[in-house]
Amino acid sequence: MASSSESEASCRARSALLDSILDFGPGVARGGAQGYIPRPTMTETETLPILLVPDKRLRLKARPLGAADGDAIRALAPKMLATMYAAPGIGLAAPQIGEGLRLIVLDIQPKEKPEPLVLVNPEIIAESAERATREEGCLSLPGQYADVTRPARVKVRYLDLTGAKREIEGDGLLSACLQHEIDHLDGVLFVDHLSTLKRNMILRKLAKDLKSQQRE
Ligand code: NI
Repeated sequence: MASSSESEASCRARSALLDSILDFGPGVARGGAQGYIPRPTMTETETLPILLVPDKRLRLKARPLGAADGDAIRALAPKMLATMYAAPGIGLAAPQIGEGLRLIVLDIQPKEKPEPLVLVNPEIIAESAERATREEGCLSLPGQYADVTRPARVKVRYLDLTGAKREIEGDGLLSACLQHEIDHLDGVLFVDHLSTLKRNMILRKLAKDLKSQQRE
């Protein structure tokens, strides 16, 4: 998901999120965290090109990761985080960098204390009947934003970098970001939640914007 200017204390992650945060400190794993990976920075970690709509790879269903994918996940996650922070964005899904894998990274408060989160095989296991509308953007549709209505709260089950099963529950920005990124794993974009009219307006504007950028 693209960065938004607003920052919401109410959308802070809950303890499940805090538990799963990786230690990105300088070389020392905190609290025996086995999921330690080096702090990704723009200078140290390679960033990857982000696919833009209408790239067809954004529309494919990503495959679940298995035990044999551990090394690939640990190699890819820091690059995805570095790419997300550099964009800047608050969420990125593997299909957006051309990897058809069920892997997402997010950090809904990158400008404050970084709280990077890596979710392997995330799935929504519960969602509220209550719905909420908030503005969304996407790194694969740069410069385009629209109000999207989704379940206000979701509970997501996933594996962390150590392969441990975890759950995260969120509302507000975290809920929207989780749903937005998990959508990417099924080839779904935020514009798919809009009316056909609104979606086509955005896609036309994106095509126009990208074309004029190419000319510059
Ligand atoms: Ni997106």
